[in-house]
Order: sequence, then structure tokens, then C-alpha cells
Amino acid sequence: MSESPRCRVCAGPLREFVDFGRQPLSNRFPLPDRLDDEYFFTLAAGICESCTMVQLMREVPRDRMFNEEYPYLSSGSAVMREHFTEIAQRFLRTRLGEGGFAVELGSNDGVMLKTIADAGVRHLGIDPSDGVAEAARERGVRVWTRFFERSTAEEIVAAEGRADVVYAANTLCHIPYLDSVFEGIRTLLAPSGVFVFEDPYFADVVRHNSFDQIYDEHYYLFSARSVQATAARYGLELVDVERLAVHGGEVRYTLAHAGALTPGTAVADLIAEEDALGLARNETLDAFAADVAAVRDDLVRLLSELRDRGKRVVAYGATAKSATVANYCGLGPDLVEFVCDTTPAKQGRVTPGSHIPVRPAEAFRDPDYPDYALLFAWNHAEEVMAKEQEFRDAGGRWITYIPEVGIL
Ligand code: SAM
Ligand code: TMP
Ligand code: ZN
Repeated sequence: MSESPRCRVCAGPLREFVDFGRQPLSNRFPLPDRLDDEYFFTLAAGICESCTMVQLMREVPRDRMFNEEYPYLSSGSAVMREHFTEIAQRFLRTRLGEGGFAVELGSNDGVMLKTIADAGVRHLGIDPSDGVAEAARERGVRVWTRFFERSTAEEIVAAEGRADVVYAANTLCHIPYLDSVFEGIRTLLAPSGVFVFEDPYFADVVRHNSFDQIYDEHYYLFSARSVQATAARYGLELVDVERLAVHGGEVRYTLAHAGALTPGTAVADLIAEEDALGLARNETLDAFAADVAAVRDDLVRLLSELRDRGKRVVAYGATAKSATVANYCGLGPDLVEFVCDTTPAKQGRVTPGSHIPVRPAEAFRDPDYPDYALLFAWNHAEEVMAKEQEFRDAGGRWITYIPEVGIL
């Protein structure tokens, strides 16, 4: 018998609180004639009863997820392009003086580092997925194609010196081996340097019932408390936190070498908020799991009813997170005609596990708008709805399921 999994950070006991059953890789879109070699695993999340880190109960081997076929392009959203330009400009203003050096983990298509590169500032992206890394190079961004871990940090220091800023957006939560990463950060960071990372915020997942933030790549769901505890294990210190509205609610964490910077009051304030919300309490997590099951029942009921009434339903945005919803709810082409998405590498393929065809963005209106659009890209709702106002004007309605099932 295999032992029950222990916390990946502190080896404490894990308490499982939600189980989505058998799930595919969220970012592997098979060709319609190649459906027989999909990889599946059991997707369940638990909380460490010792350090409060929320994490998956099982780990998917990293090479299966991040390789030259990884299709996700960060530049696909105008709001995100703006977001990354802003943080790059902030780094240039406040942290990257003469001779400054910035490193980004998970630099993807170079959406953030491009601004740093254009300013002529020394930089390096680290990303194991060569397709997206190549897209960054085409923009004039320097990238090493590899996984960041302790040995990578040592190589960077030997070749380029220490970094004034290390940044990671929507990447740290993808990396189970945080011990190696944090040891690497301690090696890589200059004495007065900062490690800034931003990821979906577990408190927002619970508050908004955004359960599809849980999928293979989102190995961790961070809170200020769990990040503070993890940083302390590696001689680092959480010195600032900033709430972000992007991707359905994130926190940007700033870490420094322990004692190098004085933590702002925002850290203690956010931890107090988390405690007031009961984020680590069994009752809170059990209520979350019950809400998730209710959304599944409501969504399946609504889509079945629309199908029976002969309505056309398509989905909008073949997001990685929609793999969780589609597979957990058993959605397939019988309930959702197709998903439209702007990402070239997803088009002409089908969604992981659920096998709904993915078509280009233009298919949304061509030849006619559908009656309903299931908003898989709910984290980009404002941007998408503004862009697709004509759909609404033509009588189309949006279906959402976060925080609950509704028609807008
Ligand atoms: N930073 C971009 C953003 O916020 O849009 C990209 C986020 S994307 C969801 C995650 C990226 O992390 C992918 O490009 C993936 O290849 C990369 N990645 C995964 N494991 C990594 C690791 N150990 N070191 C560096 N990058 C990694
Ligand atoms: P994300 O939630 O991981 O950022 O993925 C968003 C997905 O939605 C990505 O595949 C691109 C797609 N998308 C569109 O098709 N149209 C849009 O307007 C936006 C913002 C995203
Ligand atoms: Zn732990």
C-alpha cells in the first residue's frame, strides 16, 4: 500500500478537501484522430495541517506538462499585456539602476521581459517550454530553455552574476519542488535583491468558489501565511503583499533575504484577513467542496436543458482551467458545440479529456452567433465581454459558473 502524501514543503500531514476525479493534462490539446494516448491522473487538493500550504495530492511529471508543445501564450490577453508592461516599468524605475540584472522564471513569450530588453537592461528568462521561449527570442528577449531549480541558479550566478530582481508570474505555483527553487532563489538573489512572484490567491478561490483554479499545473494555491512560512524555511522573508485583480484574484508577494528589508504592515494585515476568513479551517474547506459539487449539478442541469430545447451553446476560451470544469462535469460535444480560442496551437484540436473541438476566435460569429456562450475564460470576463458586445446586442447570453451558475 502506498503511504498517504505528505506536505511537499514541510512533510506535515495533508488533509484532502476536494476531489475532481480523473483528469487529463490541462494544456495538452489532442488532435481529433489521436485521442488514444492521453495522460490522466486523479486531481485532488489538500491542506497541510502543519504549515497551511494548499497543494495537489498527486504530482504530474514536469516534462509531460512543459515541453516544446506547451501551447499557452501569455500575450493572448490585452489586459495581461498591459499588466506586464506596468510591472516591468516599475522594476526599471525602482530596482534596475545602472548595471541592474533581472531574471524571470516562466518568461513564456517574453511579454514582461520585452519592456526590460527594450530599455537595454540586462535580463534573462528561464522557461523549459521551447516553443514559447522561441517566441520570446523573436521579440529580442534572452531566454534559457530549462526548468528553474537550484542548479539553474548556480549556472546563472556563474555565467551572469546575481540578480537584483527575480520575477515569476503564474509560474511558482506550477513548481512542486519549491525546496530546490527557494534554495536557488537564495543563491541567485543579490544581497539587496527582491524575489517578486504573483499567483492565484487561495482566499479568492474560496471566496469566489473559483474551483477551476485547481488543475495539474496549479500544484500550489498560495496564501500569505503559507508563503511566509515557506520563505522562512529558506532564509528568506515575506516583506510585502499586493492584491491583484487579474486572473480572478491573485497576490503579488515580495521576498527578500531575511533581515534585508523591513516587512510592511500589509503582510500582517493580509494574514489577519485570512485568519478571519477561516482559510485553514476544516469547516471552510468542507463548505467550499460542497459549493463546488452544487455548481457541477447546476451547470449540467442548465446545459442539458438548453440542449433539449435545441439551443446552440459554444464555449469561449479554451483555458487550462476549463479542463477541470469540463472533465469534472462530464461536458462534451453533445452539450457544448465547440470552444473558440485565439491560440493557434490549440485550434483544430480538441479539449483535453472532454474532446470538444477548438476553433479560431472568428468561429464565434461565423456564420452566426450561438444562443449561449459558456465563459470558460471567466478570468478575462471584462475584456471578453467588451470585445464581444455585438454578441450580446444580437441577443446572445453568457453562461457563467463562477461563483455560481448564472445567465448574464
Ligand atoms: N509568466 C507568464 C504569465 O504569467 O502569463 C507565463 C505563465 S505560464 C502559465 C507558466 C510558464 O512557466 C510556462 O511558460 C512554463 O513553461 C513555465 N515553467 C514551468 N515550470 C518552470 C520552471 N521550473 N522554471 C521556469 N519556468 C517554468
Ligand atoms: P488563461 O485563462 O490561462 O489566461 O487562458 C486564456 C485562454 O483564453 C487562452 O487560450 C486565450 C483565450 N482567449 C481568447 O480566446 N480570447 C480572449 O479574448 C482572451 C482574453 C483569451
Ligand atoms: Zn506543510
